[in-house]
Amino acid sequence: MSELYSDRAAEVGKLGATLSRAVSGKILRALMAAVERGKDVHQESYGPMVPDSTLCEPGTDVRVLGIGSGSGESDSIILKKLLQRHNSVYSRVVEPSGEMIKRYKALVREDTSLGAVKFDWRQQTAEEYFQTKEGTKFHLAHAVHVLYNVEDHDATLRNMWEQLANGGYMFLVMQSDKGDWGGLRHKLWEEFGQGDRLKTWFRTSGDVKQCLDRAGISYVTTENEADINVTECFREKSEAGKLLLDFLTHTPYVSSEPEIRSMVLEYIRCNSSLVDDRLIFKTMNEAILSLKTV
Ligand SMILES: C[S@@+](CC[C@H](N)C(=O)[O-])C[C@H]1O[C@@H](n2cnc3c(N)ncnc32)[C@H](O)[C@@H]1O
Repeated sequence: MSELYSDRAAEVGKLGATLSRAVSGKILRALMAAVERGKDVHQESYGPMVPDSTLCEPGTDVRVLGIGSGSGESDSIILKKLLQRHNSVYSRVVEPSGEMIKRYKALVREDTSLGAVKFDWRQQTAEEYFQTKEGTKFHLAHAVHVLYNVEDHDATLRNMWEQLANGGYMFLVMQSDKGDWGGLRHKLWEEFGQGDRLKTWFRTSGDVKQCLDRAGISYVTTENEADINVTECFREKSEAGKLLLDFLTHTPYVSSEPEIRSMVLEYIRCNSSLVDDRLIFKTMNEAILSLKTV
């Protein structure tokens, strides 16, 4: 039995399930390996939208709150952008996975351009973090591809907004319901989804914008496409292919669910394009930026 299949827990075949941390880390790495166009997809796509300066009391650090920072790739783009105009940055990293924090710390050790950042590591979920009210206000709060994972995305957004200083920015990135992957998620939920979609991982940037609209928070957005090499998904014995399929469906061990698996492979086959000898599936990300005005 492979390491992957040793911690199946109660997750098997549950559409939109919350994945255990051990499994989700492996799945995320499989996805990162499969993202093709723009390995630097973060930098290319939403980098230009990240503010390079923010209102900040003279002589103080710019304070940044990162929710679900993972291994720090997106954070480092944001922090470097701020360092273009500010001398020092305080970055509070809220990330539940010890493995991700370890990788993030390794990235910080290797990247000397982050030397002016003071990190404050919090190994916690957003839910745990927001339970402790301690009054710090941030100049920028971000959640990049995280709002699928939190228990209640609406409450998380409200909490993030609450911790923003006047003149501060909230920066969010989510998958859009457009693109091939958006279509797959829609079809999956239509055919196999149960209960309230908004309580599962099947949330999109559209759902986030609805929350902001309801709260009267205005925003600007930008959409960007990325390519995922899905060739491995069609190799039956490929562990990377299985992990990628789990990620694309957000259904743990989906390869052992014949009905879902065959629908998904059929959908991907019909909607991807053959480039050289690789099958390419497109995903669309949407970045959302809000300014908290006085
Ligand atoms: C898709 S990754 C995104 C990582 C990073 N923001 C990036 O863009 O590269 C999602 C991250 O959210 C974290 N996460 C999962 N559940 C969470 C929760 N309830 N609160 C905060 N972060 C969570 C995961 O551990 C993971 O690192």
